[in-house]
Amino acid sequence: MLILGIETSCDETAIAILEKIDGKLSVLSNVVSSQIALHAKWGGVVPNLAAREHLKNIIPVLKSALKEANKKMEDIDLISVTQGPGLIPALLIGTNFAKTLSYIYQKPLLGIHHIEGHIYANWIGVNSKLQITNYKQIQKEQILNFKQEVKQKEEIKFPVLALVVSGGHTQLILMEDHFKYQIIGETQDDAVGEAFDKVARILGLGYPGGPIISAQAANHELRIMNYESNLNKLNSNEKKLSEKNIKKPIFPRPMLNSQDFNFSFSGLKTSVLYYVKKYRKENNLDDNTPLPEEFMQEVAYEFQEAATDILVIKTIQAAKKYEPKSIFLAGGVSANNDLREKMDEAIKKNIPHVTYLLQPIAYSTDNAAMIAVAAAYRWERMTSQEKNETSKNWKTLSANAQLKIYN
Ligand code: KG4
Ligand code: ZN
Repeated sequence: MLILGIETSCDETAIAILEKIDGKLSVLSNVVSSQIALHAKWGGVVPNLAAREHLKNIIPVLKSALKEANKKMEDIDLISVTQGPGLIPALLIGTNFAKTLSYIYQKPLLGIHHIEGHIYANWIGVNSKLQITNYKQIQKEQILNFKQEVKQKEEIKFPVLALVVSGGHTQLILMEDHFKYQIIGETQDDAVGEAFDKVARILGLGYPGGPIISAQAANHELRIMNYESNLNKLNSNEKKLSEKNIKKPIFPRPMLNSQDFNFSFSGLKTSVLYYVKKYRKENNLDDNTPLPEEFMQEVAYEFQEAATDILVIKTIQAAKKYEPKSIFLAGGVSANNDLREKMDEAIKKNIPHVTYLLQPIAYSTDNAAMIAVAAAYRWERMTSQEKNETSKNWKTLSANAQLKIYN
């Protein structure tokens, strides 16, 4: 069976082709056309510009996905598309394109929840060869830096605890089985990806914030490592003097003792803002003067530490209560190396019997392979009557910016 996936909920035009043979899934192509450069100058995604760009790119992206998979539209058995949540002008391009393809080629059509796609990205590579194809448009450096820790996966054991971290969502979702979602905690204000993006703006680092903050934090980490190795060469008096001079910013870790699994990131963002404002005032820097590199990198590092501490501690607390067999990350922020590694260490230390699964970064940020995988698993569980109904979706499917995840 061949499944076409289409994703246009935000600023990536993505189309993928997935093959399913004897229950094994292979990604034949996964094309992502990113609009980062277009939106960067506005400091965030502009919905109408995104829609215009999707419209311009969607046919070339489809052609490229078919070519890479060496398939024709006629070969496709099922079309799947992100139905929501997302930016409505952007979603409309993908859903209308999918509906048109479904009508012209007479193929069944499934609408998929964007976060369900992020979650199901973790099933890529289960019992089959893991392939990462055509990720050329996704943040290159990160992929080069990424350790290939993902091997061929065994079947994923339920219950699963998924930490969903994206630009619009921060949730802990418990799954007792496929498509059985229980949201056990979520952010009360900003999503963590949004906090990364806002802090990047405060530091004058541009858009999207996550990858830039993470790169700047890594520079600071390198500097501390050098500093610490030099510190070891000093005698004890010199060490005391030197340690006195360290004034590192301490940012809060809100809601760690809230007795629930909810998050809050707006206070953390605000304390970064005040810290930077105070620094500017003390150093007579106006808002348009770039911050000194070392200061900016240190703030990026300390913010990232605080944000990832909260995510990891809450996940471990939830895992102790709900006792999942597997834990995984989903959504764009799961591309963050610090989060990936910290979670790994915390699971090994606190709940070593739980399996921790990581997918390649190309499947963490927005892509269409994840939409096709979710569709493949949904299709497998549908009755023949439900399958027949999907042939009417070319007429009835509608984009929904507020779509809720359903069981
Ligand atoms: O899932 P995603 O690609 O789109 C949404 O569904 O929102 O997530 C985008 C978010 C952005 O806020 C971006 O800054 C963040 O993911 N992100 C990262 C990293 N790469 C992307 N955050 C932290 N570290 C990263 N390496
Ligand atoms: Zn996403």
